[in-house]
Amino acid sequence: MSTHIAFVLGTRPEIIKLAPVIRACVDGDVPFTVIHTGQHYSEKLDDVFFTDLQLPEPDYNLGVGSGTHGAQTGQMLVEIEQILLDEDPDVVLVQGDTNSALAGGIAAMKLDVRLGHVEAGLRSFDRDMPEEHNRVLVDHAADLLFPPTGDSAERLREEGIPADRVSVTGNTVVDAVLQNRDIAADRSTVLEDLGVAAGEFVLLTAHRPGNVDDPERFAQLLEGVNRYAELTDKPVLYPIHPRSEAKLEEFGLTVPEHIRCIEPLNFLEFLHLEDTASLVFTDSGGVQEETCILGTPCVTLRENTERPETLEVGSNVLAGPEPESIVVNAFEMQTRDTDWDLPFGDGHAAARILAGCGIETAVTSEVRA
Ligand code: UD1
Ligand code: UDP
Repeated sequence: MSTHIAFVLGTRPEIIKLAPVIRACVDGDVPFTVIHTGQHYSEKLDDVFFTDLQLPEPDYNLGVGSGTHGAQTGQMLVEIEQILLDEDPDVVLVQGDTNSALAGGIAAMKLDVRLGHVEAGLRSFDRDMPEEHNRVLVDHAADLLFPPTGDSAERLREEGIPADRVSVTGNTVVDAVLQNRDIAADRSTVLEDLGVAAGEFVLLTAHRPGNVDDPERFAQLLEGVNRYAELTDKPVLYPIHPRSEAKLEEFGLTVPEHIRCIEPLNFLEFLHLEDTASLVFTDSGGVQEETCILGTPCVTLRENTERPETLEVGSNVLAGPEPESIVVNAFEMQTRDTDWDLPFGDGHAAARILAGCGIETAVTSEVRA
């Protein structure tokens, strides 16, 4: 009998980055169950990605929603455990560093079900970030670790994780980008819809608690991005995460005039904007990777990154939140050649992850119709 995989996911980036693995299961007739924790539930952070990425409806949606870290994770854990007992999968796969990944990881470990961690071995070495707690804990719970790069595998080795648990696969975000880039370019009308021209606008995402939960820091980084927009005469599009929108309202902050807040976008729209923007400002992990893959310069509004490969190849720079540093770094990034090396793999990470779970499939989900 073929290996049965249970996917546990709950947020926008997990849906996007597990989509290539789930699609490879569909295409390869591999039995699987999708458990959605409901950590993200707004249509634009959740349903749109199932439609866009042609994913089957989740088998379970726990509807856990927002809450404190402990309550959110604990509620997920109780419910995931019962589902795993009922479904009896051979492997549980979680992705990344969210509370959903942590809950899925603990549930699998406690039941002695083999746990696979997609995107293992990332470290920001910043213990103020909830994601850092989650990724370290899941890595140390996992039986099968799938780091995207040699450097992330090396970090696992340094932490004493046995080498026979670790296989370097590349990052599934490359699979997702390569499978969808041309489709996005062909089908998306986002440039016309938003009234911008390719190469003539800048894109911004900012949602990390370290940035947006602090009113002074949030205001500072908006000011830096706005100053750059004014100096270059390029409008900034800011598809705003609900956390950031709620914080703007709570702090009574006004977004400066050259920054245009828009609703969160679906994946094809956002990918096409990333592909055609002259520059991207972000504090997102996935956006640092995608801009690197797409050849778009990126300025990260943080002091550290768990994606140092992007700094090494030159696609990204750390600017922190200071307006002056944001402007200087953005101008510096605009001078760089964009033909940097691609550190995150060849777009066949999903097939390697399934192989690591004991499933050989010829299906590599190269390009979808
Ligand atoms: C979570 C992840 C983060 C990831 C991000 C992706 C953790 C600890 N954090 O952060 O690593 O980068 O998802 O986007 O797991 N909200 C809505 N609708 C939703 C979801 C959230 O309105 O569908 C609002 C609520 O006000 C909520 C806030 O956003 O309180 C934060 O949501 P939460 O899931 O706690 O964390 P994120 O900031 O989304
Ligand atoms: N993304 C999207 N629409 C948006 C903003 C982001 O589809 O309006 C995608 C983006 O392409 C990337 C992912 O969401 O794949 C990143 O998610 P997020 O920044 O929420 O999380 P992080 O990567 O920081 O964990």
